[in-house]
Amino acid sequence: MERRAVCVLLWISCLLRCGVSHNDFFTSIGQMTDLLFTEKDLVTSLKDYISAEESKLEQVKQWAEKLDSLTLTATKDPEGFLGHPVNAFKLMKRLNTEWGDLENLVLKDMSERFISNLTIQRQHFPNEEDQTGAAKALLRLQDTYQLDTHSISTGNLPGVDLGGLPFMNSMTAEDCLELGKIAYSESDYYHTELWMVQALRQLDEGEESEVDTANVLDYLSYSVYQQGELEKALEYTRRLLQLDAGHQRANGNLKYFEFQLAKRMEAQADEGGKGKDSAERGKRETKSKTVENDFLPEKRKYERLCRGDGLKMTPRRQSRMFCRYFDNNRHPRYLIGPVKQEDEWDRPNIVRFHDIISDGEIAKVKQLAKPRLRRATVHNPETGELTTAHYRVSKSAWLIEHEHPVVDRINQRIEDLTGLEIGTAEDLQVANYGVGGQYEPHYDFGRKDEPDAFEELGTGNRIATWLFYMSDVAAGGATVFTEVGAAVRPMKGTAVFWYNLFPSGEGDYSTRHAACPVLVGNKWVSNKWIHERGQEFRRRCSLQEMDRQSPVLPHLLHHLL
Ligand code: OGA
Ligand code: FE2
Repeated sequence: MERRAVCVLLWISCLLRCGVSHNDFFTSIGQMTDLLFTEKDLVTSLKDYISAEESKLEQVKQWAEKLDSLTLTATKDPEGFLGHPVNAFKLMKRLNTEWGDLENLVLKDMSERFISNLTIQRQHFPNEEDQTGAAKALLRLQDTYQLDTHSISTGNLPGVDLGGLPFMNSMTAEDCLELGKIAYSESDYYHTELWMVQALRQLDEGEESEVDTANVLDYLSYSVYQQGELEKALEYTRRLLQLDAGHQRANGNLKYFEFQLAKRMEAQADEGGKGKDSAERGKRETKSKTVENDFLPEKRKYERLCRGDGLKMTPRRQSRMFCRYFDNNRHPRYLIGPVKQEDEWDRPNIVRFHDIISDGEIAKVKQLAKPRLRRATVHNPETGELTTAHYRVSKSAWLIEHEHPVVDRINQRIEDLTGLEIGTAEDLQVANYGVGGQYEPHYDFGRKDEPDAFEELGTGNRIATWLFYMSDVAAGGATVFTEVGAAVRPMKGTAVFWYNLFPSGEGDYSTRHAACPVLVGNKWVSNKWIHERGQEFRRRCSLQEMDRQSPVLPHLLHHLL
Protein backbone atom coordinates (compact mmCIF):
# COMPACT_ATOMS: atom_id res chain seq x y z
CA MET A 1 0.00 0.00 0.00
CA GLU A 2 2.77 2.37 1.05
CA ARG A 3 4.76 1.46 -2.04
CA ARG A 4 1.80 2.31 -4.23
CA ALA A 5 1.42 5.69 -2.60
CA VAL A 6 5.08 6.41 -3.23
CA CYS A 7 4.70 5.39 -6.87
CA VAL A 8 1.67 7.63 -7.31
CA LEU A 9 3.53 10.53 -5.72
CA LEU A 10 6.52 9.94 -7.97
CA TRP A 11 4.25 9.81 -10.94
CA ILE A 12 2.53 13.08 -10.05
CA SER A 13 5.85 14.83 -9.48
CA CYS A 14 7.02 13.54 -12.86
CA LEU A 15 3.88 14.88 -14.50
CA LEU A 16 4.49 18.28 -12.98
CA ARG A 17 8.12 18.36 -14.00
CA CYS A 18 7.53 17.06 -17.49
CA GLY A 19 4.75 19.55 -18.08
CA VAL A 20 7.27 22.36 -17.81
CA SER A 21 10.16 21.04 -19.84
CA HIS A 22 10.03 20.15 -23.51
CA ASN A 23 9.25 16.51 -23.93
CA ASP A 24 11.31 15.53 -26.94
CA PHE A 25 9.62 13.80 -29.84
CA PHE A 26 12.42 12.16 -31.75
CA THR A 27 12.96 9.46 -29.14
CA SER A 28 9.64 7.72 -29.68
CA ILE A 29 7.21 7.21 -32.50
CA GLY A 30 4.27 6.72 -30.14
CA GLN A 31 3.86 10.46 -29.61
CA MET A 32 5.11 11.46 -33.04
CA THR A 33 1.94 10.04 -34.55
CA ASP A 34 -0.04 12.86 -32.92
CA LEU A 35 2.07 15.33 -34.88
CA LEU A 36 0.81 13.87 -38.14
CA PHE A 37 -2.75 14.67 -37.12
CA THR A 38 -1.78 18.14 -35.95
CA GLU A 39 -0.15 18.72 -39.32
CA LYS A 40 -3.25 17.46 -41.12
CA ASP A 41 -5.44 19.95 -39.17
CA LEU A 42 -3.02 22.73 -40.02
CA VAL A 43 -3.27 21.90 -43.72
CA THR A 44 -7.06 22.18 -43.50
CA SER A 45 -6.72 25.53 -41.77
CA LEU A 46 -4.19 26.67 -44.39
CA LYS A 47 -6.56 25.69 -47.19
CA ASP A 48 -9.37 27.70 -45.55
CA TYR A 49 -7.04 30.66 -45.46
CA ILE A 50 -6.19 30.21 -49.15
CA SER A 51 -9.91 30.12 -50.08
CA ALA A 52 -10.55 33.27 -48.03
CA GLU A 53 -7.61 35.01 -49.69
CA GLU A 54 -8.79 33.88 -53.13
CA SER A 55 -12.34 35.13 -52.63
CA LYS A 56 -10.99 38.45 -51.38
CA LEU A 57 -8.77 38.73 -54.44
CA GLU A 58 -11.74 37.82 -56.63
CA GLN A 59 -13.74 40.72 -55.16
CA VAL A 60 -10.86 43.11 -55.71
CA LYS A 61 -10.50 41.87 -59.30
CA GLN A 62 -14.19 42.39 -60.03
CA TRP A 63 -13.98 45.93 -58.67
CA ALA A 64 -10.95 46.65 -60.80
CA GLU A 65 -12.62 45.29 -63.93
CA LYS A 66 -15.83 47.24 -63.31
CA LEU A 67 -13.91 50.44 -62.74
CA ASP A 68 -11.64 49.76 -65.68
CA SER A 69 -14.46 49.81 -68.20
CA LEU A 70 -16.27 52.61 -66.39
CA THR A 71 -13.29 54.96 -66.29
CA LEU A 72 -12.53 54.15 -69.90
CA THR A 73 -16.02 55.27 -71.01
CA ALA A 74 -16.09 58.22 -68.61
CA THR A 75 -12.78 59.66 -69.72
CA LYS A 76 -13.73 59.49 -73.41
CA ASP A 77 -16.25 62.32 -72.88
CA PRO A 78 -15.90 63.55 -69.30
CA GLU A 79 -18.32 66.45 -69.57
CA GLY A 80 -21.00 64.46 -71.34
CA PHE A 81 -20.56 61.70 -68.76
CA LEU A 82 -20.91 63.97 -65.78
CA GLY A 83 -23.79 65.75 -67.47
CA HIS A 84 -25.86 62.85 -66.30
CA PRO A 85 -26.85 63.47 -62.65
CA VAL A 86 -26.72 59.79 -61.73
CA ASN A 87 -23.14 59.54 -62.99
CA ALA A 88 -22.19 62.63 -61.00
CA PHE A 89 -23.80 61.18 -57.88
CA LYS A 90 -22.14 57.84 -58.37
CA LEU A 91 -18.72 59.40 -58.81
CA MET A 92 -19.14 61.21 -55.50
CA LYS A 93 -20.29 58.03 -53.83
CA ARG A 94 -17.45 55.98 -55.26
CA LEU A 95 -14.79 58.39 -54.26
CA ASN A 96 -16.23 59.19 -50.89
CA THR A 97 -17.10 55.71 -49.71
CA GLU A 98 -16.52 52.91 -52.17
CA TRP A 99 -12.76 53.37 -52.63
CA GLY A 100 -12.53 53.53 -48.86
CA ASP A 101 -14.39 50.25 -48.61
CA LEU A 102 -12.05 48.76 -51.13
CA GLU A 103 -9.08 49.97 -49.13
CA ASN A 104 -10.49 48.21 -46.07
CA LEU A 105 -11.03 45.05 -48.07
CA VAL A 106 -7.48 45.10 -49.42
CA LEU A 107 -6.11 45.72 -45.95
CA LYS A 108 -8.27 43.04 -44.38
CA ASP A 109 -6.11 40.30 -42.88
CA MET A 110 -7.51 36.95 -43.93
CA SER A 111 -4.71 35.03 -42.22
CA GLU A 112 -5.74 35.71 -38.64
CA ARG A 113 -7.42 32.39 -37.99
CA PHE A 114 -4.72 30.38 -39.63
CA ILE A 115 -1.93 32.27 -37.92
CA SER A 116 -3.50 31.94 -34.49
CA ASN A 117 -3.99 28.22 -35.10
CA LEU A 118 -0.38 27.90 -36.12
CA THR A 119 0.86 29.90 -33.14
CA ILE A 120 -1.04 27.70 -30.72
CA GLN A 121 0.11 24.48 -32.35
CA ARG A 122 3.71 25.59 -32.68
CA GLN A 123 4.07 25.64 -28.92
CA HIS A 124 3.91 21.87 -29.10
CA PHE A 125 6.05 21.43 -32.20
CA PRO A 126 9.38 19.61 -32.27
CA ASN A 127 12.30 21.95 -31.69
CA GLU A 128 15.88 22.23 -32.83
CA GLU A 129 16.88 19.41 -30.49
CA ASP A 130 14.31 17.11 -32.07
CA GLN A 131 15.50 17.90 -35.57
CA THR A 132 19.13 17.35 -34.63
CA GLY A 133 18.18 14.19 -32.75
CA ALA A 134 16.36 12.77 -35.76
CA ALA A 135 19.29 13.69 -38.03
CA LYS A 136 21.82 12.06 -35.73
CA ALA A 137 19.61 9.00 -35.63
CA LEU A 138 19.87 8.80 -39.42
CA LEU A 139 23.65 9.02 -39.24
CA ARG A 140 23.70 6.33 -36.55
CA LEU A 141 21.54 4.05 -38.69
CA GLN A 142 23.78 4.68 -41.66
CA ASP A 143 26.78 3.41 -39.69
CA THR A 144 25.16 0.54 -37.84
CA TYR A 145 23.48 -0.92 -40.88
CA GLN A 146 26.21 0.12 -43.34
CA LEU A 147 23.85 2.01 -45.63
CA ASP A 148 25.03 4.24 -48.43
CA THR A 149 23.76 7.78 -48.79
CA HIS A 150 22.04 6.99 -52.07
CA SER A 151 19.90 4.24 -50.49
CA ILE A 152 18.94 6.48 -47.60
CA SER A 153 18.23 9.44 -49.87
CA THR A 154 16.00 7.44 -52.18
CA GLY A 155 14.32 5.84 -49.15
CA ASN A 156 15.31 2.44 -50.40
CA LEU A 157 15.88 0.72 -47.07
CA PRO A 158 15.69 -2.95 -46.18
CA GLY A 159 12.19 -3.81 -45.03
CA VAL A 160 10.62 -0.93 -46.97
CA ASP A 161 8.30 -1.55 -49.87
CA LEU A 162 8.80 1.23 -52.38
CA GLY A 163 5.80 0.09 -54.39
CA GLY A 164 3.59 2.78 -52.86
CA LEU A 165 4.70 6.37 -52.96
CA PRO A 166 8.48 6.39 -53.06
CA PHE A 167 8.78 10.18 -53.13
CA MET A 168 7.41 10.25 -49.61
CA ASN A 169 10.53 8.56 -48.31
CA SER A 170 13.08 10.31 -50.44
CA MET A 171 15.36 13.18 -49.56
CA THR A 172 15.85 16.38 -51.53
CA ALA A 173 19.25 17.94 -52.08
CA GLU A 174 18.24 20.42 -49.39
CA ASP A 175 17.57 17.58 -46.92
CA CYS A 176 20.99 16.14 -47.71
CA LEU A 177 22.59 19.54 -47.18
CA GLU A 178 20.80 19.85 -43.84
CA LEU A 179 22.03 16.46 -42.68
CA GLY A 180 25.55 17.30 -43.81
CA LYS A 181 25.39 20.57 -41.88
CA ILE A 182 24.39 18.76 -38.70
CA ALA A 183 27.32 16.37 -39.11
CA TYR A 184 29.51 19.45 -39.75
CA SER A 185 28.34 21.14 -36.56
CA GLU A 186 29.43 18.00 -34.70
CA SER A 187 32.85 18.22 -36.41
CA ASP A 188 31.98 14.91 -38.02
CA TYR A 189 33.67 15.59 -41.38
CA TYR A 190 33.34 12.01 -42.53
CA HIS A 191 29.53 12.21 -42.63
CA THR A 192 29.63 15.84 -43.77
CA GLU A 193 31.50 14.72 -46.89
CA LEU A 194 29.15 11.81 -47.57
CA TRP A 195 26.03 13.95 -47.37
CA MET A 196 27.43 16.92 -49.25
CA VAL A 197 28.52 14.58 -52.05
CA GLN A 198 24.98 13.21 -52.13
CA ALA A 199 23.50 16.74 -52.28
CA LEU A 200 25.91 17.63 -55.08
CA ARG A 201 25.07 14.45 -56.99
CA GLN A 202 21.36 15.22 -56.83
CA LEU A 203 21.96 18.79 -57.99
CA ASP A 204 24.19 17.56 -60.82
CA GLU A 205 21.47 15.15 -61.86
CA GLY A 206 19.26 18.18 -62.42
CA GLU A 207 17.11 18.19 -59.30
CA GLU A 208 15.23 21.46 -59.08
CA SER A 209 16.33 23.09 -55.89
CA GLU A 210 16.84 26.32 -54.03
CA VAL A 211 20.13 24.94 -52.78
CA ASP A 212 23.17 26.91 -53.81
CA THR A 213 25.68 24.47 -55.31
CA ALA A 214 28.49 26.80 -54.27
CA ASN A 215 27.43 26.45 -50.64
CA VAL A 216 27.57 22.64 -50.91
CA LEU A 217 31.01 22.83 -52.51
CA ASP A 218 32.16 25.14 -49.74
CA TYR A 219 31.26 22.55 -47.08
CA LEU A 220 32.69 19.77 -49.20
CA SER A 221 36.09 21.32 -49.74
CA TYR A 222 36.40 22.04 -46.04
CA SER A 223 35.33 18.58 -44.90
CA VAL A 224 37.71 16.78 -47.26
CA TYR A 225 40.50 19.16 -46.28
CA GLN A 226 39.81 18.29 -42.63
CA GLN A 227 40.24 14.66 -43.58
CA GLY A 228 43.62 15.39 -45.12
CA GLU A 229 42.57 15.11 -48.76
CA LEU A 230 44.21 18.19 -50.21
CA GLU A 231 43.77 17.32 -53.91
CA LYS A 232 40.08 16.78 -53.50
CA ALA A 233 39.76 19.98 -51.46
CA LEU A 234 41.49 21.85 -54.28
CA GLU A 235 39.24 20.29 -56.89
CA TYR A 236 36.06 21.27 -55.05
CA THR A 237 37.40 24.77 -54.45
CA ARG A 238 38.14 25.20 -58.18
CA ARG A 239 34.63 24.06 -58.99
CA LEU A 240 33.25 26.53 -56.49
CA LEU A 241 35.21 29.36 -58.10
CA GLN A 242 33.84 28.44 -61.52
CA LEU A 243 30.39 29.14 -60.10
CA ASP A 244 31.34 32.16 -58.05
CA ALA A 245 34.65 33.65 -59.12
CA GLY A 246 34.54 36.30 -56.39
CA HIS A 247 33.98 33.89 -53.47
CA GLN A 248 36.35 35.29 -50.89
CA ARG A 249 36.99 32.26 -48.74
CA ALA A 250 37.35 30.01 -51.77
CA ASN A 251 39.94 32.35 -53.29
CA GLY A 252 41.86 32.33 -50.05
CA ASN A 253 41.59 28.56 -49.74
CA LEU A 254 42.68 28.06 -53.35
CA LYS A 255 45.97 29.78 -52.67
CA TYR A 256 46.39 27.99 -49.38
CA PHE A 257 45.64 24.55 -50.77
CA GLU A 258 47.91 25.14 -53.78
CA PHE A 259 50.66 26.23 -51.45
CA GLN A 260 50.19 23.22 -49.19
CA LEU A 261 50.14 20.89 -52.15
CA ALA A 262 53.25 22.41 -53.66
CA LYS A 263 54.96 22.00 -50.29
CA ARG A 264 53.92 18.39 -50.19
CA MET A 265 55.19 17.79 -53.75
CA GLU A 266 58.50 19.30 -52.80
CA ALA A 267 58.76 17.09 -49.78
CA GLN A 268 57.85 14.15 -51.95
CA ALA A 269 60.57 15.01 -54.45
CA ASP A 270 63.04 15.41 -51.61
CA GLU A 271 62.18 12.29 -49.77
CA GLY A 272 61.30 10.10 -52.69
CA GLY A 273 57.61 9.59 -52.17
CA LYS A 274 57.52 9.83 -48.40
CA GLY A 275 55.22 12.84 -48.68
CA LYS A 276 52.44 10.77 -50.05
CA ASP A 277 52.87 8.35 -47.22
CA SER A 278 52.47 11.11 -44.71
CA ALA A 279 49.40 12.38 -46.55
CA GLU A 280 48.00 8.89 -46.39
CA ARG A 281 48.93 8.73 -42.76
CA GLY A 282 47.11 12.00 -42.17
CA LYS A 283 44.07 10.52 -43.80
CA ARG A 284 44.29 7.37 -41.77
CA GLU A 285 44.77 9.33 -38.59
CA THR A 286 41.56 11.27 -39.11
CA LYS A 287 39.71 8.11 -40.02
CA SER A 288 41.06 6.32 -36.96
CA LYS A 289 40.01 9.27 -34.86
CA THR A 290 36.41 8.51 -35.71
CA VAL A 291 37.08 4.91 -34.87
CA GLU A 292 38.66 6.02 -31.63
CA ASN A 293 35.49 7.89 -30.80
CA ASP A 294 33.55 4.69 -31.06
CA PHE A 295 36.35 3.36 -28.91
CA LEU A 296 35.24 -0.15 -28.23
CA PRO A 297 35.44 -3.34 -30.16
CA GLU A 298 32.21 -4.04 -28.31
CA LYS A 299 30.59 -1.32 -30.39
CA ARG A 300 31.68 -3.20 -33.52
CA LYS A 301 30.29 -6.44 -32.10
CA TYR A 302 27.05 -4.71 -31.28
CA GLU A 303 26.73 -3.28 -34.79
CA ARG A 304 27.55 -6.60 -36.44
CA LEU A 305 24.97 -8.41 -34.37
CA CYS A 306 22.41 -5.72 -35.18
CA ARG A 307 23.07 -6.22 -38.90
CA GLY A 308 22.36 -9.90 -38.44
CA ASP A 309 25.86 -11.17 -39.17
CA GLY A 310 26.34 -12.45 -35.67
CA LEU A 311 28.04 -15.54 -34.43
CA LYS A 312 26.65 -18.88 -35.39
CA MET A 313 26.26 -21.54 -32.76
CA THR A 314 28.05 -24.80 -33.41
CA PRO A 315 25.71 -27.47 -34.80
CA ARG A 316 26.32 -29.47 -31.62
CA ARG A 317 25.09 -26.65 -29.42
CA GLN A 318 22.31 -25.88 -31.87
CA SER A 319 21.11 -29.47 -31.65
CA ARG A 320 20.45 -28.99 -27.96
CA MET A 321 18.03 -26.13 -28.50
CA PHE A 322 14.40 -27.08 -28.38
CA CYS A 323 10.85 -25.91 -28.73
CA ARG A 324 8.36 -27.33 -26.28
CA TYR A 325 4.96 -26.94 -24.73
CA PHE A 326 5.51 -25.54 -21.29
CA ASP A 327 3.16 -25.68 -18.29
CA ASN A 328 5.74 -24.73 -15.66
CA ASN A 329 5.68 -28.00 -13.84
CA ARG A 330 1.94 -28.60 -14.17
CA HIS A 331 0.92 -25.15 -13.09
CA PRO A 332 -2.90 -25.30 -12.83
CA ARG A 333 -3.34 -22.31 -15.17
CA TYR A 334 -1.29 -23.96 -17.91
CA LEU A 335 -2.03 -27.62 -17.41
CA ILE A 336 -4.76 -27.71 -20.04
CA GLY A 337 -3.34 -25.01 -22.26
CA PRO A 338 0.45 -25.08 -22.06
CA VAL A 339 2.37 -22.29 -23.78
CA LYS A 340 4.90 -22.54 -26.57
CA GLN A 341 8.43 -22.07 -25.37
CA GLU A 342 11.52 -21.93 -27.55
CA ASP A 343 15.18 -21.88 -26.62
CA GLU A 344 16.80 -18.79 -28.11
CA TRP A 345 20.22 -19.33 -26.54
CA ASP A 346 21.85 -21.80 -24.20
CA ARG A 347 24.46 -19.88 -22.20
CA PRO A 348 22.98 -17.68 -20.85
CA ASN A 349 19.73 -19.49 -21.17
CA ILE A 350 17.30 -17.25 -23.03
CA VAL A 351 13.85 -18.61 -23.71
CA ARG A 352 11.11 -17.15 -25.86
CA PHE A 353 7.42 -17.62 -25.11
CA HIS A 354 5.18 -17.52 -28.16
CA ASP A 355 1.64 -16.09 -28.29
CA ILE A 356 2.03 -14.96 -24.72
CA ILE A 357 0.31 -11.58 -24.94
CA SER A 358 -2.75 -10.95 -27.11
CA ASP A 359 -3.23 -8.08 -29.56
CA GLY A 360 -6.04 -6.76 -27.34
CA GLU A 361 -3.79 -6.72 -24.28
CA ILE A 362 -1.03 -5.04 -26.25
CA ALA A 363 -3.42 -2.35 -27.46
CA LYS A 364 -4.57 -1.69 -23.88
CA VAL A 365 -1.02 -1.54 -22.50
CA LYS A 366 0.00 0.89 -25.25
CA GLN A 367 -3.07 3.01 -24.65
CA LEU A 368 -2.34 3.21 -20.91
CA ALA A 369 1.32 4.02 -21.48
CA LYS A 370 1.10 6.46 -24.38
CA PRO A 371 0.16 9.64 -22.51
CA ARG A 372 2.84 8.95 -19.90
CA LEU A 373 5.78 8.16 -22.19
CA ARG A 374 8.85 10.10 -21.15
CA ARG A 375 12.44 9.95 -22.27
CA ALA A 376 13.99 6.86 -20.69
CA THR A 377 16.66 7.40 -18.08
CA VAL A 378 19.66 5.41 -16.88
CA HIS A 379 21.49 5.19 -13.57
CA ASN A 380 24.61 7.32 -13.53
CA PRO A 381 27.16 4.77 -12.27
CA GLU A 382 29.09 7.46 -10.38
CA THR A 383 26.26 9.19 -8.58
CA GLY A 384 23.58 6.54 -8.81
CA GLU A 385 21.15 9.20 -10.04
CA LEU A 386 18.78 8.91 -12.99
CA THR A 387 19.69 10.89 -16.12
CA THR A 388 19.03 10.77 -19.86
CA ALA A 389 21.83 9.42 -22.05
CA HIS A 390 22.57 9.31 -25.77
CA TYR A 391 23.06 5.58 -25.53
CA ARG A 392 19.52 5.00 -24.39
CA VAL A 393 17.15 6.58 -26.89
CA SER A 394 13.56 5.61 -26.21
CA LYS A 395 10.58 6.65 -24.20
CA SER A 396 9.08 4.71 -21.39
CA ALA A 397 6.29 4.70 -18.88
CA TRP A 398 5.52 2.60 -15.82
CA LEU A 399 2.24 0.78 -15.36
CA ILE A 400 1.39 0.32 -11.72
CA GLU A 401 -0.25 -2.85 -10.36
CA HIS A 402 -4.04 -2.64 -10.00
CA GLU A 403 -4.26 0.39 -12.30
CA HIS A 404 -6.00 -1.82 -14.84
CA PRO A 405 -7.00 -5.50 -14.82
CA VAL A 406 -4.77 -6.07 -17.87
CA VAL A 407 -1.70 -5.02 -15.89
CA ASP A 408 -2.57 -7.47 -13.12
CA ARG A 409 -3.27 -10.23 -15.60
CA ILE A 410 0.13 -9.71 -17.23
CA ASN A 411 1.95 -9.63 -13.90
CA GLN A 412 0.20 -12.84 -12.87
CA ARG A 413 1.19 -14.51 -16.14
CA ILE A 414 4.85 -13.67 -15.59
CA GLU A 415 4.64 -15.04 -12.05
CA ASP A 416 2.98 -18.25 -13.18
CA LEU A 417 5.39 -18.92 -16.02
CA THR A 418 8.63 -18.02 -14.24
CA GLY A 419 7.58 -19.42 -10.90
CA LEU A 420 9.09 -16.29 -9.36
CA GLU A 421 7.56 -13.91 -6.81
CA ILE A 422 6.29 -10.89 -8.69
CA GLY A 423 5.29 -8.81 -5.64
CA THR A 424 8.87 -7.60 -5.22
CA ALA A 425 9.37 -6.85 -8.93
CA GLU A 426 9.46 -3.36 -10.42
CA ASP A 427 6.32 -2.01 -12.05
CA LEU A 428 5.67 -3.00 -15.64
CA GLN A 429 7.78 -0.79 -17.90
CA VAL A 430 6.52 0.04 -21.37
CA ALA A 431 9.05 1.36 -23.86
CA ASN A 432 8.71 2.78 -27.33
CA TYR A 433 11.68 3.31 -29.62
CA GLY A 434 11.59 5.95 -32.34
CA VAL A 435 13.72 6.33 -35.46
CA GLY A 436 17.20 5.16 -34.52
CA GLY A 437 15.97 4.45 -30.99
CA GLN A 438 18.37 2.13 -29.19
CA TYR A 439 19.84 1.04 -25.90
CA GLU A 440 23.55 0.35 -26.14
CA PRO A 441 25.14 -2.66 -24.37
CA HIS A 442 24.37 -2.80 -20.67
CA TYR A 443 23.58 -5.14 -17.80
CA ASP A 444 20.17 -5.09 -16.26
CA PHE A 445 21.58 -5.97 -12.84
CA GLY A 446 23.52 -3.70 -10.50
CA ARG A 447 27.24 -4.41 -10.20
CA LYS A 448 29.12 -4.63 -6.94
CA ASP A 449 31.42 -1.74 -7.83
CA GLU A 450 28.64 0.81 -8.27
CA PRO A 451 26.28 2.49 -5.84
CA ASP A 452 23.35 0.17 -5.24
CA ALA A 453 20.81 1.49 -7.73
CA PHE A 454 18.03 -0.57 -6.21
CA GLU A 455 18.80 0.14 -2.58
CA GLU A 456 15.71 2.20 -1.93
CA LEU A 457 13.48 -0.51 -3.37
CA GLY A 458 14.77 -2.83 -0.66
CA THR A 459 14.16 -5.86 -2.85
CA GLY A 460 17.71 -6.75 -3.81
CA ASN A 461 19.20 -6.93 -7.28
CA ARG A 462 17.42 -7.67 -10.57
CA ILE A 463 17.44 -11.43 -10.61
CA ALA A 464 15.72 -11.85 -13.99
CA THR A 465 14.31 -9.94 -16.97
CA TRP A 466 11.05 -10.62 -18.73
CA LEU A 467 10.68 -8.74 -22.01
CA PHE A 468 7.48 -8.64 -24.07
CA TYR A 469 7.68 -7.68 -27.74
CA MET A 470 4.57 -5.67 -28.42
CA SER A 471 5.25 -4.98 -32.11
CA ASP A 472 7.06 -6.42 -35.05
CA VAL A 473 9.85 -4.22 -36.38
CA ALA A 474 10.24 -3.97 -40.17
CA ALA A 475 14.05 -3.65 -39.95
CA GLY A 476 16.51 -3.38 -37.07
CA GLY A 477 15.53 -3.24 -33.41
CA ALA A 478 16.80 -6.69 -32.37
CA THR A 479 17.81 -7.43 -28.80
CA VAL A 480 21.42 -8.58 -28.98
CA PHE A 481 23.67 -10.19 -26.39
CA THR A 482 27.10 -8.81 -27.18
CA GLU A 483 29.17 -11.11 -24.97
CA VAL A 484 27.82 -14.31 -26.47
CA GLY A 485 26.68 -13.23 -29.94
CA ALA A 486 22.97 -13.93 -29.59
CA ALA A 487 20.43 -11.86 -31.51
CA VAL A 488 16.73 -11.98 -30.70
CA ARG A 489 14.35 -10.48 -33.24
CA PRO A 490 11.25 -8.71 -32.01
CA MET A 491 8.11 -10.72 -32.78
CA LYS A 492 4.79 -9.27 -31.77
CA GLY A 493 3.03 -11.27 -29.04
CA THR A 494 6.16 -13.08 -27.82
CA ALA A 495 8.32 -12.56 -24.76
CA VAL A 496 11.85 -13.49 -23.79
CA PHE A 497 13.09 -14.35 -20.33
CA TRP A 498 16.54 -14.77 -18.83
CA TYR A 499 18.25 -14.77 -15.45
CA ASN A 500 20.67 -11.91 -14.79
CA LEU A 501 22.07 -13.47 -11.62
CA PHE A 502 23.43 -16.91 -10.91
CA PRO A 503 21.66 -18.80 -8.13
CA SER A 504 24.52 -17.68 -5.89
CA GLY A 505 23.45 -14.07 -6.38
CA GLU A 506 26.53 -13.25 -8.48
CA GLY A 507 25.87 -11.24 -11.64
CA ASP A 508 26.02 -13.19 -14.89
CA TYR A 509 28.21 -11.00 -17.12
CA SER A 510 27.30 -13.03 -20.19
CA THR A 511 23.86 -11.38 -20.08
CA ARG A 512 25.25 -8.07 -21.34
CA HIS A 513 22.78 -7.00 -23.99
CA ALA A 514 21.50 -4.11 -26.09
CA ALA A 515 18.51 -2.94 -28.09
CA CYS A 516 19.63 -2.28 -31.69
CA PRO A 517 18.60 0.96 -33.37
CA VAL A 518 15.25 0.73 -35.10
CA LEU A 519 15.90 1.13 -38.82
CA VAL A 520 12.36 0.99 -40.15
CA GLY A 521 9.24 0.68 -38.05
CA ASN A 522 8.16 1.26 -34.54
CA LYS A 523 9.30 -0.86 -31.63
CA TRP A 524 7.18 -1.36 -28.55
CA VAL A 525 8.38 -3.55 -25.72
CA SER A 526 7.34 -4.03 -22.16
CA ASN A 527 9.51 -5.41 -19.43
CA LYS A 528 9.35 -6.67 -15.93
CA TRP A 529 12.47 -6.71 -13.82
CA ILE A 530 12.12 -9.36 -11.18
CA HIS A 531 14.07 -8.87 -7.95
CA GLU A 532 15.84 -11.20 -5.56
CA ARG A 533 13.60 -10.83 -2.54
CA GLY A 534 10.91 -13.41 -2.32
CA GLN A 535 12.68 -15.88 -4.60
CA GLU A 536 14.45 -17.66 -1.74
CA PHE A 537 12.12 -20.65 -1.91
CA ARG A 538 11.19 -20.21 -5.55
CA ARG A 539 14.46 -20.48 -7.36
CA ARG A 540 16.53 -23.54 -6.71
CA CYS A 541 19.19 -22.76 -4.10
CA SER A 542 22.83 -23.24 -4.93
CA LEU A 543 26.03 -22.57 -3.12
CA GLN A 544 28.10 -22.89 -6.26
CA GLU A 545 29.13 -19.44 -7.36
CA MET A 546 29.29 -20.17 -11.04
CA ASP A 547 26.32 -22.48 -11.24
CA ARG A 548 25.08 -21.99 -14.76
CA GLN A 549 22.31 -24.51 -14.67
CA SER A 550 19.19 -23.13 -16.18
CA PRO A 551 16.22 -23.00 -13.83
CA VAL A 552 14.01 -24.09 -16.71
CA LEU A 553 15.96 -27.27 -17.17
CA PRO A 554 14.28 -29.40 -14.48
CA HIS A 555 10.93 -28.66 -16.06
CA LEU A 556 12.35 -29.38 -19.46
CA LEU A 557 13.49 -32.77 -18.21
CA HIS A 558 10.06 -33.39 -16.84
CA HIS A 559 8.75 -32.91 -20.38
CA LEU A 560 11.32 -35.06 -21.99
CA LEU A 561 10.75 -37.95 -19.63
C1 OGA B 1 16.14 -2.80 -21.49
C2 OGA B 1 16.48 -3.62 -22.66
C3 OGA B 1 15.93 -4.53 -24.82
C4 OGA B 1 15.02 -4.26 -25.98
O1 OGA B 1 15.19 -2.02 -21.57
O2 OGA B 1 16.82 -2.93 -20.46
O3 OGA B 1 17.49 -4.23 -22.63
O4 OGA B 1 15.11 -4.98 -26.96
N1 OGA B 1 15.67 -3.67 -23.72
O5 OGA B 1 14.24 -3.31 -25.90
FE1 FE2 C 1 18.24 -4.40 -20.63
